[in-house]
Amino acid sequence: METKRVVEKDSPLKKDDLIVITGAGGFIAGNLALYFTKKGFTRIRAVDKKPLYEWYQHVPGAENLCLDVSHEENCRRVCEGAVEVYQLAADMGGMGFIERFRVECLRSILINTHMIEAAYRAGTRRYFYPSSACAYNVLLQQDPKVRALKESDAYPAMAERGYGWEKLISEMFCQEYWAERGMKTHIARFHNVYGPNGTWDGGREKAPAALCRKVIEAIDKQDMNITLWGDGTPTRSFMYIDDCTKGIDMIMHCDELIATPINLGSHELVSINRLLSKVEKIAGVKLKRHYDLNAPRGVAGRNSDNTFIRKMLKWEPKTSLDDGLAITYAWIKEQYLKRKAGQRVGIG
Ligand SMILES: NC(=O)c1ccc[n+]([C@@H]2O[C@H](COP(=O)([O-])OP(=O)(O)OC[C@H]3O[C@@H](n4cnc5c(N)ncnc54)[C@H](O)[C@@H]3O)[C@@H](O)[C@H]2O)c1
Repeated sequence: METKRVVEKDSPLKKDDLIVITGAGGFIAGNLALYFTKKGFTRIRAVDKKPLYEWYQHVPGAENLCLDVSHEENCRRVCEGAVEVYQLAADMGGMGFIERFRVECLRSILINTHMIEAAYRAGTRRYFYPSSACAYNVLLQQDPKVRALKESDAYPAMAERGYGWEKLISEMFCQEYWAERGMKTHIARFHNVYGPNGTWDGGREKAPAALCRKVIEAIDKQDMNITLWGDGTPTRSFMYIDDCTKGIDMIMHCDELIATPINLGSHELVSINRLLSKVEKIAGVKLKRHYDLNAPRGVAGRNSDNTFIRKMLKWEPKTSLDDGLAITYAWIKEQYLKRKAGQRVGIG
């Protein structure tokens, strides 16, 4: 029979403790690096394999490393001296990417396998892993009027092919590094995150960014048509980035949540059709909709059951989709116009 580990209290995190954030040239990790800098942490090591000029953000004062963390020796270098590690590097994207590049998604297992071992060997105190709603059993997501997914719905397992299975096995690594080796690991299952400084073009973008860009393009080209992937009926919830970074921090520093997957997502369910209506309202236009029924569409419905996070943290993501989308639309429009004017902008 398994014995439960006793959780020893950490000494409080000091502002000059080294925080390592991988995937920091990308969306969530870049915003997380900024979040911790704003909180006053002075030693942040930001890591990504993309060249520095392609990072969305460069956080002032951070040590920026351009390294591929699917290689073991790089992971050792990255984790040296780390008190906390936030492992957000992954080969990922929206539906179009994860349905088409399942092998690439599965190969992220190299990143997670080497990073967690390197963190453990470096004596890291806490390790954060971003799992996904794609880890949930797809058989529970076949109706747009979906019952929101609760944490126990991952098993019996029938995760999303490729991406979802990689997430599930990486969660398991986190659980066993705690059970067998005593490293405090924390696992959040994100439900679609959106906001500024994320992918908005190029094939890896998710629905909110893709719809904002398509509307901006339609207005710019004065072609008032838009093509949606699928029939517009699938439903999802979308979490604004500021809720995501705050939630990561809260989950990582909650001893009751060690090695315990928890939903981190919004509970506000919308159809893709409705999401487009919201973007149109922000832009002040109405476009003629066309539906590409051969495009990737994903599961029929997916929402986050927030009972557990409310109970554990007395908190849940709160930014309304209307508010978050307005900020995101403005940011994407700015990027679009900069690119049109010949300036270099990150897209993904
Ligand atoms: N964005 C979402 O809605 C969402 C939902 C669920 C889970 N997640 C998870 O959150 C994490 C971050 O997602 P994101 O949306 O910020 O993605 P992102 O693509 O914007 O960022 C990931 C970053 O990882 C980097 N990367 C990839 N392989 C690398 C490697 N071998 N070495 C170093 N860097 C590497 C990429 O260059 C990229 O900048 C991922 O693990 C993702 O699966 C995201």
